[in-house]
Amino acid sequence: MSSHIEKDPVSVTETTGHEWDGIRELDNPAPKWLMYLFYATIVWAIGYWVLYPAWPSLMGGGYTKGVLGYSQRADIAGRLTAHRADQAGLRGAIAQASLEEIRANPDLLSFALAGGRVAFGDNCAACHGAGGAGNPGFPALVDDEWLWGGGLAEIERTILHGIRNADPDSRYSEMPKFGADGILKRGEIADVAEFVLSLSSRATDPLAAAHGQPIYEAQCAACHGATGEGMREMGAPRLNDRIWLYGGSKEKIVESITNARFGVMPAWSGRLDDATIKQLTVYVHALGGGE
Ligand code: HEC
Ligand code: HEC
Repeated sequence: MSSHIEKDPVSVTETTGHEWDGIRELDNPAPKWLMYLFYATIVWAIGYWVLYPAWPSLMGGGYTKGVLGYSQRADIAGRLTAHRADQAGLRGAIAQASLEEIRANPDLLSFALAGGRVAFGDNCAACHGAGGAGNPGFPALVDDEWLWGGGLAEIERTILHGIRNADPDSRYSEMPKFGADGILKRGEIADVAEFVLSLSSRATDPLAAAHGQPIYEAQCAACHGATGEGMREMGAPRLNDRIWLYGGSKEKIVESITNARFGVMPAWSGRLDDATIKQLTVYVHALGGGE
């Protein structure tokens, strides 16, 4: 590259004096419109610095505040307050209304379902799965199989007081540990497990199932029902269908009988307010199995 300013003979414009392999650059000024736009952005930027928070600064909390005193944080806080005020009306109405009234009122119902979905994701999904789909040991809430009952009042009670915890109104029952506490011998447990399988037509050893039947009638029917239909007063699951809380293979059933399970659900009455618990109740009830 050489540097030598001269006039280009064809356009009669001065060159910049730079030359690359015989190609020389004309020193044309930038178009006016571009320059005006450029100056305008400088003016706009200065205006912006004066009006809005812009520059890091050692004084005044780390940045220049701008004469308008605008802050995105305050803006969000203001909008949140306004939003809460809007919600307070509906939350108040939900706190006053009965569960049946909430279900009957389309506005309250859609507000309750939306709030219930969020509260469920925050508090319940870790155990019951996203959308209440269930996990081993944590019942699905989307089907119409209920341990303790699927009516609005029953669901609300389960959420308020939980299951097998220290809350005085907690739902409670305890299946004996038939193996660990020596109530039944291993062979008897295998037989009664085979009988349990026969309740959902899955037994493979009819003789063992026949041996298991009198044991079932003596030890299990009081909670699980004569035909394995389950019993809600005891929270005892149905055994004659193909829905299993802890697994329906023979090994899992033997494990359930040997050590029992003692599933615990926390009480929510002290942690969530009434309106949230009502929203959760209506949401769970609407998941698919509500009665
Ligand atoms: C720490 C785990 C855990 C959390 C968190 C939890 N649950 Fe549960 N929940 C359980 C267990 C375990 C059972 C079944 C207990 C049993 O065997 O009876 C259960 C049972 C239930 C039942 C009764 C189902 C039936 O078939 O009768 C309902 C309703 C329920 N939970 C709703 C909720 C809601 C709503 C929340 C959130 C506010 C929640 N649970 C949070 C563990 C949990
Ligand atoms: C005092 C009542 C009671 C008695 C008696 C009882 N159970 Fe249970 N059983 C329950 C309860 C409650 C559960 C749920 C356990 C839990 O979540 O803690 C359960 C759970 C089970 C399960 C697991 C079901 C699933 O869906 O995974 C099986 C299997 C079972 N019982 C079989 C038996 C057999 C067999 C007997 C008799 C040898 C028996 N139970 C006696 C109350 C009882």
